[in-house]
Amino acid sequence: MIPFRTKYLSADPAGLAQAADLLRQGQLVAFPTETVYGLGGDALNGEAVAAIYAAKGRPSFNPLIAHVASVEAAHRFVQWSNQAERLATAFWPGPLTLVLPLREGHGVSSLVTAGLDTLAVRVPAHPTARALLQAVDGPVAAPSANPSGRISPTTAEHVRAGLDGRIAAVVDDGPCGVGLESTIVGLAGEPTLLRPGGVALDQIEEVLGAQLHIHQSGDLLTAPGQLQSHYAPDAPVRLNALARQADEILLGFGPVDCDVNLSADGDLPEAAANLFATLHDLDKSGRPIAVTPIPDEGLGAAINDRLRRAAAPRG
Ligand code: TXA
Ligand code: MG
Repeated sequence: MIPFRTKYLSADPAGLAQAADLLRQGQLVAFPTETVYGLGGDALNGEAVAAIYAAKGRPSFNPLIAHVASVEAAHRFVQWSNQAERLATAFWPGPLTLVLPLREGHGVSSLVTAGLDTLAVRVPAHPTARALLQAVDGPVAAPSANPSGRISPTTAEHVRAGLDGRIAAVVDDGPCGVGLESTIVGLAGEPTLLRPGGVALDQIEEVLGAQLHIHQSGDLLTAPGQLQSHYAPDAPVRLNALARQADEILLGFGPVDCDVNLSADGDLPEAAANLFATLHDLDKSGRPIAVTPIPDEGLGAAINDRLRRAAAPRG
């Protein structure tokens, strides 16, 4: 393949029309969602989906999320249920992904599901993502637009830094508001939290009126970012640090003495929005990173999940 530079497209009608054309042709286009930038490819086109795995260097057993423009579009691919209806009504469009049994005649490439009989679907809230999905009028498979195992991108510049020359285009529409990937809930069996994310667990349990089963890595289902080392900067990461050691940079939360603060006010949504961009920045310094404790409530659970993976022993 002849190397090419990745095109920057703006989030105006002309840029989105070009992005939609590229996707329909089976090319890869990164685009903003409210969580992180996604690396999109036509979910019905096996070659396009294979190209996503290749561009990311992603292990092929890790299935992808199909992004659609509306609940009605989701109905075309998965078997709907009362629980799905309740969660979709409460949180779509938004940072929630539902894993449901595939519907007969779905047409989705088995590379998207990695051969599972379920599909992860999400209706993103970002206006640019919605406009693009409407223009494509089909499911777009989109993992986070970063090389596998690395920090997720929350700006078009992060996407370029990781994937330039490997994908056709990136739609640039500034930084992502939520900053953490979607929460993933499995509804194919007992309702299960597969990945903490942009919608807090207690909000989901309130809507379902039941507690979610929490996915344990020993469970049968192989799922979300379950590879332990993930979201990893080059530098080592140390958690629950109370002070700097040696030449560490101290990343703080709340009213603490530190080098960089995720949210001096102790605001968890603000910290989530800053997390990946801050890790990208700190990584450039080449110094080890220490992080002060972050409460495990609300979005803190998702922040701590990503930090634990960033700190996990590298495979
Ligand atoms: O916020 C997000 O969800 C972003 C944006 C781009 O939408 N996407 C994202 O995709 O985080 P990705 O591929 O990085 O993470 C998708 C996760 C994977 O960890 C995968 O294991 C899980 O979803 N997953 C996908 N299909 C599944 C399925 N059928 N059953 C269980 N888990 C599934
Ligand atoms: Mg990812």
